[in-house]
Amino acid sequence: MDRNSGIVRTISESHLSFKYEDLRMATGGFSEQNKLGQGGFGSVYKDGQEIAVKRLFFNTGRQADLFFNEVNLISRVQHKNLVKLLGCSVDGPESLLVYEYLCNTSLDRFLFDQHRQSLLNWGRRFKIILGVAEGINYLHEESEIRIVHRDIKASNVLLDGMFRAKIADFGLARCFGEDQSHLSTGVAGTLGYMSPEYIIHGQLTEKADIYSFGMLVMEVMTGQKNNNPAFSTEESQSLMTVVWQHYMSNNLIEMLDPCIQDQCPEEQALHVFQVGLLCMQASPGLRPPMWKVVEMLGVAVVVQQEMEKMLEGIVWVHCSMGSSVFLQWAVVERQEEDSRISSLEGV
Ligand SMILES: Nc1ncnc2c1ncn2[C@@H]1O[C@H](COP(=O)(O)OP(=O)(O)OP(=O)(O)O)[C@@H](O)[C@H]1O
Ligand SMILES: [Mg+2]
Repeated sequence: MDRNSGIVRTISESHLSFKYEDLRMATGGFSEQNKLGQGGFGSVYKDGQEIAVKRLFFNTGRQADLFFNEVNLISRVQHKNLVKLLGCSVDGPESLLVYEYLCNTSLDRFLFDQHRQSLLNWGRRFKIILGVAEGINYLHEESEIRIVHRDIKASNVLLDGMFRAKIADFGLARCFGEDQSHLSTGVAGTLGYMSPEYIIHGQLTEKADIYSFGMLVMEVMTGQKNNNPAFSTEESQSLMTVVWQHYMSNNLIEMLDPCIQDQCPEEQALHVFQVGLLCMQASPGLRPPMWKVVEMLGVAVVVQQEMEKMLEGIVWVHCSMGSSVFLQWAVVERQEEDSRISSLEGV
């Protein structure tokens, strides 16, 4: 028996294995009507009310064993704020992943929709922020494998019928290694969530997720997309810049989404904004670990102290930085590094 048939047998005997044909039938032949959306890795379809099937663009058939091992590992990662991965299919023309279906789909569908955003009242928003923080903390610190998500953003935060947050698409990136094709297909959508050190040096640590979480907090608090064209003027080119400017001029509260202004105590709103700002510091070392973020979301006073420390530090970078200015800064830093390296080589 050759190696491949052994793997295929192991996979098909596993409880994680779904038959391609069953999934195709369940989703009405991957019909447009059942399509929930499309992202960087594939398109997602529902069956009815139970499962969501992601049809991957990448044909992982050749690496079925690697793919399956990863699915096996990730399916054991369980937390109330993580979407459950039920299994996969590797026996058809394309690889499929099977997740639990969340009936309110994703956060972006509410947050950035003028008819639905009022459904996200302050209580729900705070719980979503806290739930996402707890989910990330579990991935970073508590799960049996250390997982850096890489793609924390509003469309990867799914909502159940009670608007409880569950993070989607964790762990999958591990299957694709350093393949950057996801980024190249979705730069416009996800660039705003990516930390400076990841963009410049490709350094991927937990701190990259913490930066993205900070951006998500800004979006939930303001109800604005991080790349809102309304902010694209000469002076201010990103949500982060606008929030930072408001913080510096002591009127951060004006940034709060008008939908929740009369529901949210000012002090609490400022506190959550400040936790988000701490997570977005340019220097990864200054960003708090996720366990601390979870703690801070419950304790106002620590944030104020951290904020004061931060003002002495590196964050000035952000205050004069829209997205294009940011990239200029990135280039400057890289040039400086190159010249440092070449001067060392000359020695
Ligand atoms: N398990 C699920 N339950 C309900 N809706 C889902 C589920 N998974 C995905 N969706 C919906 O399908 C859409 C597409 O998901 P997909 O993960 O392919 O793209 P994305 O999240 O926009 O980008 P990325 O590829 O970075 O994850 C999501 O935005 C979400 O609205
Ligand atoms: Mg997704």
